[in-house]
Amino acid sequence: MERMRLLFIFISILFNATTLSGVELLVHNYYKEKCPLAEDIVRHNVEVAVLKNPRLAASLLRLHFHDCFVMGCDASVLLDNVEGMTSEKLAGPNLNSLRGFEVIDKIKYLLEEECPITVSCADILAMAARDAVELRGGPRWEVLLGRKDALESSFSGANILIPAPNSSLEVLIDNFKQQGLDIEDLVTLSGSHTIGRARCLSFRQRIYDAKEEYHYGYDHYKRYTSFRRILRSICPVEGRDNKFAPLDFQTPKRFDNHYFINILEGKGLLGSDNVLISHDLDGKITEQVWAYASNEKLFFASFAKSMIKMGNINVLTGNEGEIRRNCRFVNA
Ligand code: HEM
Ligand SMILES: *[C@@H]1O[C@H](CO)[C@@H](O)[C@H](O)[C@H]1NC(C)=O
Repeated sequence: MERMRLLFIFISILFNATTLSGVELLVHNYYKEKCPLAEDIVRHNVEVAVLKNPRLAASLLRLHFHDCFVMGCDASVLLDNVEGMTSEKLAGPNLNSLRGFEVIDKIKYLLEEECPITVSCADILAMAARDAVELRGGPRWEVLLGRKDALESSFSGANILIPAPNSSLEVLIDNFKQQGLDIEDLVTLSGSHTIGRARCLSFRQRIYDAKEEYHYGYDHYKRYTSFRRILRSICPVEGRDNKFAPLDFQTPKRFDNHYFINILEGKGLLGSDNVLISHDLDGKITEQVWAYASNEKLFFASFAKSMIKMGNINVLTGNEGEIRRNCRFVNA
C-alpha cells in the first residue's frame, strides 16, 4: 500500500514538472502533424531572401531578439501602427533600423495558404532566425515551437527594454537579467554582431569618446587609432547618420567567432561590444571571450543554447494569445 502511494506521488510530481503551473512548454516538431511543411517553407524563403541580400540574415536574427525582449517572444514587434496602439516599430531602437518584415510577410502568406491559422508569427520569427544563422555559416539547432501571438504591442516596452549601444556593462547585465538571461548569455548572444551592420548614429558616440583609448596598452592604442580613423571617415561628428559600417569588420558576412577576436583588440563597432572587455572587472567575461575566440565550436554550441533560452522568454502557449492571420495586425 505504502509503495503504491509513493509511486502515485512520484508520478504526479513528474506530471506537474512537465506542465509548470499549467503553462504548456514549447516543443520540437510542434508542426509535424499540424503543418508538416511549415519548417521547409520558412527555410526555403529565408534562403531565397538571404541569397538575394545577405544582410537580411542579420536583420531576421535581430527581429527575433527585439521581439523576445519586449513582453516575450510573441511577435508583438511585427504589429503595425493602428489607432489606439503605437507600434514597437516606431520605438527608438527599432525606427529606421529593423528590417526583414517583408520576408516574414511572404512566409506568413504562404503558410496561410498551406495551413490556415496554424503557424504563429512568433514561431516564424524563431524559425527564420535559426535558418538565417545557419545560412551564414553558423550553428543549427532544433528550434522549440508552439508560441502564440500577442494581442498587443508595447511601444514603451521597446524603448525601455531593448539595450542601447552606449549602455554601460552594468546596464547591459541588468537588462539581460530582467529577461532571465545571465552574463554568459549576454556575452554569447552579443556574438550575433558577427554579421550585419550598424548605422553611424549607433556608433558615433563610441568613436568620438576620448575615454575609450585609455583602456588598452600603448601598442594597442596605435592600432586602434587607425581603426577609429576609418570609422570616423564613415561617420563624421555630424551628419551621415544613416551611413553603415559592418559590425564585424573582418568577416562581415560570415557567422563565425571573429566578433570575439575583434573585441579582444578593442575593435568592436558598438560601445556595448567593447565594454564587455574594457569594463570587465573580475576577468570572467574576458575568459569567456578568449574561449570563444580560440574555439569556434564552443561558441557555436553556447550560441545555440542561449538562442533557445532567449526564444523561451515569456512565451504565450495554449489558449493564451492567438494565431495571427496577418503578422501586422491582430485578428478582427
Ligand atoms: C547586448 C546588447 C545589444 C545591443 C546594445 C545591441 C545593439 C545593436 C545596434 C545599435 C545595432 C545597429 C542598429 C542600427 O544602427 O540600425 C545592432 C545590430 C544588430 N544586432 Fe544587436 N545589440 C545587442 C544584442 C544583440 C543580440 C542579443 C542579438 C541577437 C540575438 C543582436 C543581433 C543584432 C544583429 C544581427 C544586428 C545587425 C542587423 C542588421 O544588419 O540588420 N544584437 N545591435
Ligand atoms: C546614449 O545615447 C542617447 C541617444 O543618443 C543619449 O540620449 C544618452 O544620453 C546616451 N547615454 C549615455 C550614457 O551616454
